[in-house]
Amino acid sequence: MRRSLTTLAAALGVIVAAIAPAHAQSRVWHARATQFENRPALAFGVAWYPEQWPEARWQTDLQLMRSAGFNTVRLAEFAWSTMEPEEGRFDFGWLDRAIDAAVRNGMMVVLGTPSAAPPAWLTQKYPDTLRVDEDGKRAGHGGRRHFSFASARYRQFATRIAAEMATRYGKNPAIVGWQIDNEIGPPSWDPESVAAWHHFLEQRYGTIDELNRRWATQYWSQHYNNFDQVPLRATGQHNPGLLLDFKHFTTATWTDYVAAQAAAIRAHADPRQFVTTNTMFWNAGFDHFALHRVVDMASWDNYIPDGRPDWVANGANHDLVRGYKQRNFWLMETQPGRVDWVPVNRALDPGQVREMAWQAVGHGADALLYWQWRPARNGQETYHGALLGADGTPVPVFGEVARTGKEFAQAAPLLADTEPAAQIAMLFSYDSRWAIDIQRHHKDFDPVRQFLSLYRPLRTRTQGIHVIAPDAELGKYRLVVAPSLHVLTPPQAERLVAYVRAGGHLVLGPRSGMKDDANALWPKRQPGPLADLLGAEVEQYYALDAPVGVQGSYGAGKANIWAEAIRPVAKDVEVLATYSDPHGWLDGKPAAVTRRVGKGRITYIGGWLDDGLLATIATQLLDGAGIRPVLADLHPDIEVGERSGAGKRLLILINHGAEPHPIALPAGASLVTGDLAGGTLSAHGVALIKLR
Ligand code: GAL
Repeated sequence: MRRSLTTLAAALGVIVAAIAPAHAQSRVWHARATQFENRPALAFGVAWYPEQWPEARWQTDLQLMRSAGFNTVRLAEFAWSTMEPEEGRFDFGWLDRAIDAAVRNGMMVVLGTPSAAPPAWLTQKYPDTLRVDEDGKRAGHGGRRHFSFASARYRQFATRIAAEMATRYGKNPAIVGWQIDNEIGPPSWDPESVAAWHHFLEQRYGTIDELNRRWATQYWSQHYNNFDQVPLRATGQHNPGLLLDFKHFTTATWTDYVAAQAAAIRAHADPRQFVTTNTMFWNAGFDHFALHRVVDMASWDNYIPDGRPDWVANGANHDLVRGYKQRNFWLMETQPGRVDWVPVNRALDPGQVREMAWQAVGHGADALLYWQWRPARNGQETYHGALLGADGTPVPVFGEVARTGKEFAQAAPLLADTEPAAQIAMLFSYDSRWAIDIQRHHKDFDPVRQFLSLYRPLRTRTQGIHVIAPDAELGKYRLVVAPSLHVLTPPQAERLVAYVRAGGHLVLGPRSGMKDDANALWPKRQPGPLADLLGAEVEQYYALDAPVGVQGSYGAGKANIWAEAIRPVAKDVEVLATYSDPHGWLDGKPAAVTRRVGKGRITYIGGWLDDGLLATIATQLLDGAGIRPVLADLHPDIEVGERSGAGKRLLILINHGAEPHPIALPAGASLVTGDLAGGTLSAHGVALIKLR
């Protein structure tokens, strides 16, 4: 039985060779996130569902879209039952006509493959394609994403419809790109997924002995005699090695799922058409750096569920998405006001929809599409924000969107071939995030929050950060900050050592260098493979239920949630801060140390320090690296983003607050468009500035 399931898994092409170079087949793309020929460098548009409306209405919709300044529509990503109403019977006539109508109205078109929404004929006849949850319950029809990501049969149906679409539209000059599926996830626990899991583990470890060794299965009698015995689990009291490998498995399976559709499309599509898949807010379902190796471009869906944007945190997610391919990206969906999937779906305030649009561009978006044009008459999302109301006429936010459209049209030629500028990088590691989440040790040690605690003071002081994978090229950054590089592999450590030796400054936060990529402890104190470079090691770590004092060159403040006592080993290690913890373990122990190594430097910060200390640390780090912001002394509500390239430098200034604020521009800077007048940026105002 196992053999046949394994063969099946292999046959469906579940690439199980641990997420890797096999996928590095994506085409080379240049700085611009699109390869439009004679088309605007900024796409601006909306998700349009012509299949939900009578054709007689389409022209009215498209004219209204033009009046909003839209030049792009995304079509078809949930229209499977309209494109293939019965098994093997395809009907693209309506889509031909919808695309023609869009083109007549000056639109570029993105086509979505519909695999997030399998039709009833498919799941009824082939219930084996349905997803099974971790408790063994099989999904039914009526929602979406109810398929198994490892189902060979589902893969065939999904790639067939993708290939049919690409055969028909792959050479159509109006089609600028393809979106595969829609927000891929969640995984499945059906028998094929279990077989694929076993095959994955076999590929990863080679022998069951090796798996037993890496997972240390002598513990609690967890020893496995063969791969078939290993349960497929994502939650619960399981071996941390198993739980981390579950994430590696979901990454490999989703990557292969996307790669299969990408291959089906590329077989017929003009290479000018990009292939992407739209991802979600801080989604932890798979390693996004790994998955993006099989697509041409990153794209994501940015929602502010509670309608109260935290601009710095939101900007960090944009930066992470840019980092997936280290190139500009598309914002494939964003809300025209509100969502409909949180307990209180508050609308953004007047001005904030435009503000968030410009923020995306400032962080590297070359496109922005709203979700959605008009609410369907029925269906799960009738309450969601849209550009039109139930009666088919514009809602109040339409005017703000149209204003943004006009500005984008004006800005597009200037922004062409520019990218977000940054002199510093932050490392985001999915393995580290997962490993910490699997064993937080302190319930409040949220790895994303911890990442943001350092991103925030650095971003507001530098006005540009590249968020990249731990394996990315580091040479061009003067400062590289890894807030918590918990899982650290020897090759990653070697690159970091080389970076420091070549003159870079590497800053590590708490919990760094503790685990290997099977989530096993390094047989060494933290930061494990980097301890020799640091010349110091973590003597002990402590979860804190109350703040502990910290003092030193950063001033005085507190560590919260987590504190590590550091023990200098080498003589040239400098102690930057110590704990004051009367009667406790941490009293007088180093909390942060630094060491010069050749031309470079490594710093280790062993506690989750308060915002005041982190602000001072950020200032000192940036001063040390000689990095200055483009505009100094700004109010905290003001965001500055620089895009540069092709001999141009542009600033995007955004006032995220409800009060006006003064801005002093550098000499020679000129206003292209926006709300900067008399040296003041209005409340929720935006300005595009050209630097000399
Ligand atoms: C996204 C999804 C869209 C729509 C939207 C509503 O996550 O991709 O199809 O459901 O949410 O906010």
